[in-house]
This record gives sequence, structure tokens and C-alpha cells, in this order.
Amino acid sequence: MSLPTFIFSILLSHLLFASQQCHLILTSAAAAGRWKLLQTSIGISAMHMQLLRNDRVVIFDRTDFGKSNLSLPNRKCRNDPTEVVLKLDCSAHSVEYDVPSNKFRALMVQTDVWCSSGATTPDGNLVQAGGFNDGERRVRIFNPCNGRDCDWQEIPNGLAARRWYATSHILPDGRQIIVGGRRQFNYEFIPKSIVANTFNLPFLQETNDVGAENNLYPSVFLNVDGNLFIFANNRAILLDYVKYEVVKRYPTIPGGDPRSYPSTGSAVLLPLKDLKTEAIQAEVLICGGAPKGSFFQAARGNFVRALNTCARITITDPNPQWVMETMPLARVMGDMILLPNGNVLLINGASSGSAGWEMGRNPVLSPVLYRPDNKIGSRFETQNPTTIPRMYHSSAVLLRDGRVLVGGSNPHGFYNFTSVIFPTELSLEAFSPAYLDAKFNGLRPKIVYPNSMSGFRYKKRITIQVIITDEEVAENSVSVTMVAPAFNTHSFSMNQRLLVLCDDKVKALGNSAYSIEVTTPSSPNLAPAGFYLLFVVYQDIPSQGIWVKLQ
Ligand SMILES: *[C@@H]1O[C@H](CO)[C@@H](O)[C@H](O)[C@H]1NC(C)=O
Ligand SMILES: *[C@@H]1O[C@H](CO)[C@@H](O)[C@H](O)[C@H]1NC(C)=O
Repeated sequence: MSLPTFIFSILLSHLLFASQQCHLILTSAAAAGRWKLLQTSIGISAMHMQLLRNDRVVIFDRTDFGKSNLSLPNRKCRNDPTEVVLKLDCSAHSVEYDVPSNKFRALMVQTDVWCSSGATTPDGNLVQAGGFNDGERRVRIFNPCNGRDCDWQEIPNGLAARRWYATSHILPDGRQIIVGGRRQFNYEFIPKSIVANTFNLPFLQETNDVGAENNLYPSVFLNVDGNLFIFANNRAILLDYVKYEVVKRYPTIPGGDPRSYPSTGSAVLLPLKDLKTEAIQAEVLICGGAPKGSFFQAARGNFVRALNTCARITITDPNPQWVMETMPLARVMGDMILLPNGNVLLINGASSGSAGWEMGRNPVLSPVLYRPDNKIGSRFETQNPTTIPRMYHSSAVLLRDGRVLVGGSNPHGFYNFTSVIFPTELSLEAFSPAYLDAKFNGLRPKIVYPNSMSGFRYKKRITIQVIITDEEVAENSVSVTMVAPAFNTHSFSMNQRLLVLCDDKVKALGNSAYSIEVTTPSSPNLAPAGFYLLFVVYQDIPSQGIWVKLQ
């Protein structure tokens, strides 16, 4: 096939497999994307990250790594007799990174936040849960401010059980659920109920592999029916958390290899679309992980090749089945980030070994783009590589400008900068997907209305105004997406969710201005209340996002 014919056939296949509405058109076929080093050191290693509504990212690692490379302000120190490494520690283990100014400042956690979870409230405050040692039953709140005086507040015994490697998820009623954690085969809610309690989840015991576990940091997604899809190890259930009942069991992923910590794959709820139809479908995609036994092998110095498969399932289907796909690169400890245009970015991680201290090898430096609407077999596209390995304890989050912030990587029990294969990374980088290339500036929509921080109610018609300078703007080439900012750690983005607000009515207003009419989500089961990033996407090119508050 000649090149033009080949390109034409690719374009044709996209057109043929495009769903009529809500289709995001492909414009760029070349492998691309750019990396930029933002900070050589923020003083700590970005193990956990959450973008907040003021475009600042709260980052933390753990208190028992020893002394970090960033001092606490005003000569503050933490004097903690229960601390296992440094009882008197005057260094920071959390920072607030301001995206627009590319600056950061130290924050102070009081207890150990290692391998914990988090989620935002309907008001956009961060609620972090659990950790290790003296932090295992803590709940910590971070209320964003625009100055420099906000910091962590801690609630002792905020949790009913110790939670280490648990997963938080926002619920439609505004509460949060915390699922699992090491040796915790149960879940609980924040705020704690009056009859403060935990609720048994035998599924977590059933999926617990002796010695390796392989079911920590379960992948939790709010299904469109209001139940929770919970994936651990190699299979999933649907939990009715109101009745405390498992209402469905999904099959095991073909092959049966584990994909949860430490055989860490990643998982994402694919974009929710056709939101006006009676029976909205929801799909989950799980990629990478490590073959069974890799954790024990890695402990003996044998670094088994990671899985190169993804498994995709329609979780709303009456008879759901996994459909397998092959990635161009094998990956363990990767992150899956939803981009504003509905594509998924696979980033970070290694191609052999497993999660855990010193257990990963062969960093995967190239991200891979996954286009969920393409025909199977033509969904993956390898992107340009970084130079910095992002191994165990690395992280990634989407920013409002469409870049992906990448940080962390520390496979050691301390801050180790020398005499190790993968030194502790204190740097922050940004990956800019190809849609940010200057050559697409002519296609990039600019939102002029509403203003950032506008409030939206459920199930309302709203009008969005954009400027698009392209000559002819076809009605079906514009879509509006809403992305929930996620809490990212250990290769999972908790609460990550993207909705395509279709049924767009695009009207030309003259002077390159257009109005788009969309309907906001009809229920908190589709989109729990809170702050979202709203983007207008034209021919696969997203605008800068604006913050909107769904309430
Ligand atoms: C962190 O501090 C140590 C000394 O305490 C130094 O050796 C190392 O280079 C620093 N790392 C970075 C990335 O600044
Ligand atoms: C990391 O550094 C600590 C002390 O800071 C040291 O005890 C430990 O052996 C180092 N680990 C490795 C893997 O070199």
C-alpha cells in the first residue's frame, strides 16, 4: 500500500467506525508529544498528587523516608516519638505546586501519609485517608487557598480501621467510600457513620494471593447505575454500597494474571457518552500488570517481563465479557490518564519486575496513546519518550491546560541519590500531547463563556461560547467534555472520570464565535457533585479547560 493510500484507509476506517454523535475526530496520525522538565527538584518525591480547583497540585510522599531536600518553613519541625526513621524531622514531606507560576511551597503533614488514598469533597477540598504507622487511621483535610497560609489539618481516628494501600472514591451522596487496604477485607465511609463501622467485603479476601496479595489499591469506579465497580487482582464485582450487597460478579480476565498491587497494572473508566439515552453504557479498560509470580521472582533478582495486554469490558452489559488487546509496549506500574479529548494516555512504569522496593527494571520511557473509539487493532500510538525513568512511586495528573504533570519515582526505602539503579526522583516534568502543538493553534477552541468557577446544576441546558478560527466548523466536529480531577498514586487515578456532553447544537455567531448548547449530567450517579474541568474539543484538539462546579 502506498503511503497516501495507507493514510486514506486509516482516515476511512475512523470515519466508518465513528459513532454518529459524540464522535471525536482524529486529525493527527504522527507519533508525537513533547516533554519538558519543570523542576529539577521540588525537594520531595511525588508519590501522591491531586490537582485542586485553584490550579495547584497537592503532592506528598511519606514521613519515614528520612530527611527530604526541602525544609519546613519558619523553622518548624515535627517531633514525633512514634516515627520510625527521624523522630525530629525539620524537612517537608508534602508540597503545594502552583501550575501557572511553576513554583512550590512546603506543606506540613503531622503523621505518616505513606501509601494512602484521597478524594475531593463537593466543595473541592481534598480529603486524604490513612497511611502507615501513626498515620494509619488519620483523615487529613486540605482546603485550598490562594495565599500561602493553608496547610494540612488532621483528624485523629478519622477512620474506623487502619487503611494502608486502600482506595477512596467519591459517592453520589457527597460522602466518600474507602475500600480495602492491607489486611482489611472491608470498606468504610467518610464521614464516619454514627454507628462507626466497617463493612465486610469477602471479595477482597478471595482475591488476596498468599504472600503477594495482588489486590491492594483496588480499582474502584462509580458505575452509571450508582453501584461501585471494584476490580482487584484479576476480576471484579459490582457493589451496592447502600445495601452492602454484591449485586454482580464479573468474569476473570482471560489468562488470569494479576493486575493490582504489587502486580500493578492500571485501570480507567472510559469516557461516558450518549448521556441522553435510557441505558447509558460504561466501559472499563485495564492495562498491563505483571504475570503471576513476578513479585516472588523479582525478590530473587529475576525480573519477569510485564504484561503487554489490556482488557476492556462493558460493565453495564447483562452478560459482560473481557475483550483483550495488545499494547505496543509491555508495562507494569503505568498510569492511565484520561485526556480532555477522550483519549487515554498510558505513561510511566517499567517493562519488567513488579511494584515494591527495588523490584522493577527496564523503565518504559515512551507513553502510549489509546484511542477508545478506533477500531480494535488501531487504537495504540507510541509517543515520544522522556529521559527520566518513572518507576515505583511515580505519579501523573492531567492539568487544566491539557498537559500531564509527571513526578516521583522512588523504589527505595529512603531518599537514595547515589549507588542505586534508579535514584530517588525529586523532579517534575510535563508531557504535552500532540494536541498542544502550535500547528493546531488554528483549530484550538477558546472558551469565552461561561467564566471559570461557574456553578452548574444537574440536567440543565447550558450554552457555552467559544472562538474557533478555523474556516468551516462542522456541527458534529465539536464536543464538550467534563473531567473530574483525580487523586493519583500507585498507578491509579482515584475518581478519574470523563463525561462527553453531547447532543451539541452548534450555532455560528459570526467573527469565529460559536455557541454550543449542551445538557449537564442528569444525576450524581453519572457525575458526583464537585469541581470539574470543562473543555471544548474541536477535531480532537481541546481548548484550555475552565473549572465548573456541578451542584
Ligand atoms: C538532595 O540532597 C542531597 C544531600 O542531602 C544531595 O546529595 C542531592 O543531590 C539532592 N538532590 C537533589 C535532586 O537536589
Ligand atoms: C539508601 O540510603 C540509606 C541511608 O540514607 C541507606 O541506609 C541504604 O542502604 C540506602 N539504600 C540503598 C539501596 O542503597
